[in-house]
Amino acid sequence: MARKRVAILISGRGSNMIALIEAAADPAFPAEIVLVVSNRPDAPGLGRATEHGIATAVIDHKRFESREAFERTLDGALQAAQIELVCLAGFMRVLTPWFLSRWPRRVINIHPALLPAFPGLDTHARALAAGAKEHGATVHFVVPEVDAGPIIAQGSVPVEAGDTEATLAARVLTIEHRIYPQALRAVAEGRAKA
Ligand code: GRF
Repeated sequence: MARKRVAILISGRGSNMIALIEAAADPAFPAEIVLVVSNRPDAPGLGRATEHGIATAVIDHKRFESREAFERTLDGALQAAQIELVCLAGFMRVLTPWFLSRWPRRVINIHPALLPAFPGLDTHARALAAGAKEHGATVHFVVPEVDAGPIIAQGSVPVEAGDTEATLAARVLTIEHRIYPQALRAVAEGRAKA
């Protein structure tokens, strides 16, 4: 079966992007990363993608007069590259119902919490404040409601005594790097229920 053509959307350092690129470097992986798009020209992940030989594009949302205009350009870049699946990896823009209707069940995201617990921002601080014993990460299909789409994969880590936001985030990140490639594999193979 042909490998699915994947774009990764980033806004920052891109460690999950690297995990996906490294998994897809195996020719047996059912998806290939053909494009990395950043909405921020200064995202450190752009250089890391280039080092791995992946084509990159910057679509700076600040240069567009509206969210819709930004998304039309993003949609055009994805269509031009014949993208089939889109992975959000630290992409800090909320996608509109219009964009998502163009990519039904084709956009997935990683969120640093065990959804439905702690949607939104500052998940590690909120998990610590809530006294959570367990924390983790979730890969899910993206729907218009933020962090609410069907779950594809989850991984958990213990919250340990003395944890800070930074130590907990680092522990969660290791699990993110493990589950995101597994989830992409499941979606690319048509095994994930949307
Ligand atoms: C990760 O924690 C991810 O779960 C969240 O944003 C962070 C991105 O990190 N959505 P990186 O850019 O992949 O290193």
